[in-house]
Amino acid sequence: MNRHTALGLTAFHLNGRAVEVAADPGERLSHALRERLGARDVKVGCNAGDCGACTVLVDGAPVCACLMPVQQAAGATVETLAGLARTDPHGERLVSSFQAHQAAQCGICTPGMMVSAVALLRMVAAPDAAQVQDALGGVLCRCTGYRKIIDAVVDAGAGGALPAEGSGDVGTAIRRLDGLPKVTGTEAFGDDVAPADALVLRVIRSPHAHAGFTLGDLDAFRAAHPGIVAVLTAADVPGLNAFGVIPGFIDQPVFAVDRVLFRGDAVAAVVGEAQAMARFDPADFPVTWQVRDAVMEVEAALADGAPQLHPGRANNIMCGGNVACGDAEAALGRAAVTVEGRFDTSFVEHAYIEPEAGFATMEGDRVVVQACTQAPVMDQDALMQILALPRERIRIVPTAVGGGFGSKIDLSLQPFLAIAAMKTGRAVRMTYERVETMQSTTKRHPASITMRIGADPDGRLCGMTFDGDFNTGAYASWGPTVANRVPIHASGPYRVADYRATSRAVNTTCVPAGAFRGFGVPQSAVAQESLFDDLADTLGMDPLEFRILNALDNGVPTVCGQVFAQGVGIKPCLEALRPAWAAAQADCAAFNAANSASRRGVGLAAGWYGCGNTSMPNPSTIRAGLRADGAVVLHQGAMDIGQGSNTVIPQIFARAFGVPVHQVDLVGADTDVTPDAGKTSASRQTFVTGNAARLAGEALRREVLSLVNAGPDATIALGPGAITVTDGARDFAFDLARLTPNAAGYVLEVVETYDPPTKPLDSNGQGEPYAQYGYAAHLVVVEVDLALGRVRPLRFVAAHDVGQAINPLLVEGQVHGGIAQGMGMALMEEYIPHRTENLHDYLIPTIGDVPPIETLIVEVPDAHGPYGAKGLGEHVLIPTAPAILNAIKRATGARIRRLPATPARVRAALKEAGHA
Ligand code: FES
Repeated sequence: MNRHTALGLTAFHLNGRAVEVAADPGERLSHALRERLGARDVKVGCNAGDCGACTVLVDGAPVCACLMPVQQAAGATVETLAGLARTDPHGERLVSSFQAHQAAQCGICTPGMMVSAVALLRMVAAPDAAQVQDALGGVLCRCTGYRKIIDAVVDAGAGGALPAEGSGDVGTAIRRLDGLPKVTGTEAFGDDVAPADALVLRVIRSPHAHAGFTLGDLDAFRAAHPGIVAVLTAADVPGLNAFGVIPGFIDQPVFAVDRVLFRGDAVAAVVGEAQAMARFDPADFPVTWQVRDAVMEVEAALADGAPQLHPGRANNIMCGGNVACGDAEAALGRAAVTVEGRFDTSFVEHAYIEPEAGFATMEGDRVVVQACTQAPVMDQDALMQILALPRERIRIVPTAVGGGFGSKIDLSLQPFLAIAAMKTGRAVRMTYERVETMQSTTKRHPASITMRIGADPDGRLCGMTFDGDFNTGAYASWGPTVANRVPIHASGPYRVADYRATSRAVNTTCVPAGAFRGFGVPQSAVAQESLFDDLADTLGMDPLEFRILNALDNGVPTVCGQVFAQGVGIKPCLEALRPAWAAAQADCAAFNAANSASRRGVGLAAGWYGCGNTSMPNPSTIRAGLRADGAVVLHQGAMDIGQGSNTVIPQIFARAFGVPVHQVDLVGADTDVTPDAGKTSASRQTFVTGNAARLAGEALRREVLSLVNAGPDATIALGPGAITVTDGARDFAFDLARLTPNAAGYVLEVVETYDPPTKPLDSNGQGEPYAQYGYAAHLVVVEVDLALGRVRPLRFVAAHDVGQAINPLLVEGQVHGGIAQGMGMALMEEYIPHRTENLHDYLIPTIGDVPPIETLIVEVPDAHGPYGAKGLGEHVLIPTAPAILNAIKRATGARIRRLPATPARVRAALKEAGHA
């Protein structure tokens, strides 16, 4: 024992301050920093050294604090982001450059990235991109696609001017309005907010895919475990022991009653003092299992004699969808050429770096839940059912969200925490372990798709059929949405007069599949865009010109019979790729002429996505007020999960009201103070909530102008306690103290709602499912190692029609992040239930994997969008995977039909294509 660990205390310097902690033997440095020293800027994503979020400097060297016992830090100097951002010159530069480049989206990886970057900048004053990629290679980011992080670190080293800040008006690039806490380590995520004396909750989950179970003597269990305060089972659920998101499909139990349907199904929860729970081993929990036959694949679930998992779902078919127009079979019969094929995709894990986390507590007779979520009001709705409480007795206060991508729309830990708080009367916290989040939360649906497409001799599409089965896992989640949405989108953004598409969502004993960026459309695009390339090749046509020839246009009906008179932007997206397409083909040809071990190819794909819910009400409401002191306040309940709604929605509101965006005070999501802005999903926030913000801004503007009888073109200037309206040559100063504040403290207040105009679909899927679509086309150059089957993307060009880029920098951020996720889906990501439940067996792209990305912003305004804007979040990865598959084929002739295109699968396809 040395002087730094005397008496069980470990002493070291933390951000320049001498500290001592009394830690348990072997306690993780990350735990001691966060829980004993309050350094919540150290983020924990995996506790296994895989994600790097917890990176700190120990004696100047970056280490994963989750892997180092705190005792090893005795006598050392430990630096974290909070200290570096305050006192280190490199840290200070990075604070500015990360914001200027939008290098932090959700911000959960940002401390690890910035700390690693400081270590690099101390050694290399002006690193290049490759050095940054090496130095930051141990930190994962799921949001940004890494390129903006590389730019930010290079620029911080170069010390030059950072990208200029726009005015903040619609159409200008500005830093995130909520960006500073993300880069200084003060952002509070789900695991950062619980009070120090909170009880800790752990869920007991099934280790089996399918089993019956019997609980043992819970009283004896409690008596044998001092410090355990409560055990929760299905009997403790006060209301409905079920949750889900689609009416008619509320089928997932909070706690299973007597059988489990997937490995990870919850059967009970144990709640206790933090010390007791740190010692608790879930293997001690008294439960016995009766293992039953599992059905992990769709074919097995559909087979005669398969276990029937839910009553009323014959052959385990949960639901289906279809769209039909014209006569697809007849059209295919008269087509000059046809192509067809089957394509299979895998479960894909969201892999956000922040595991689900939060706490619940009682405030009087109200339950308050603070946790990461994409849908606070949906959480409140579900808890009303589960807790059997009225709305006013449940408050949801979302924390910052460290990535969601669809999975955090569903409930996860909220019911456990709320029931525990009600039962114990104390604050109760929980953070999912990495294995737990990967085992129990939703995934992208695996798809098995069969598709046939025909064309006439001139290359015009002539008939298309699509049949897709989607493995929706044990419970419904968003499976019905996927089943509905896919047939609408499976044509791609093209004119297809004769079309038939069907889909089925099939229950298995796998983890539930749910919402993940695209709701099934990325899977259908893999089949459709791959076959488009095959069809173009069969016809002897250039694949880009083939797509342009068949692209949808204004006035041309979609496969749902919906006709848009304006706003159809797929052709401009495709046309924007023409220069890059020609240049890349020439580059690839030159490379291939000089190389035999590797081949390069350039691939294309396009995509579209209807923004918002499918033929369903989908409103968002925004509230805004003017205080007597002259402050304008925007109550914005749309969850910013990294995509930027805390910046984009104020930009829209500010334009409508007529003041600079930096004068708008933002009140973030909290069901007590922000109205329902709907869920953050389906690329709806900029479009739907943005429109509500526009309406609110316009309404507040009208009220202000009416105070002084000014005309509609007058300008508004906010000042302390007064507002000045300039109408032509006349200035009117209005003293706001003349108005009486309402109960909320506003002298003027408005509430406005927007709901996109849609129409129901008939039995053939004909109708108007969405008020607007966004459009995209990607180009990628890949290099294929013929011996190893390794595929390396070298460059992306991504054209996106966003109608009007509210903030071009945020548009780029979405495009980069979506492409990185699309790359993962194409080349490496395969969630195998029971096997890839951590971030070292489940691989996502790293900073070394994502090549340069050129974003081409196309703006074809949409009449329904706020200032013409369209949604973007889902669109950004829909074309990526098929573009990569098409590039592999153009490089080698090998057609990949099962994702991901791992080296082994690529090697097999290369052999099939005639490569040795
Ligand atoms: Fe990197 Fe979200 S910004 S994980």
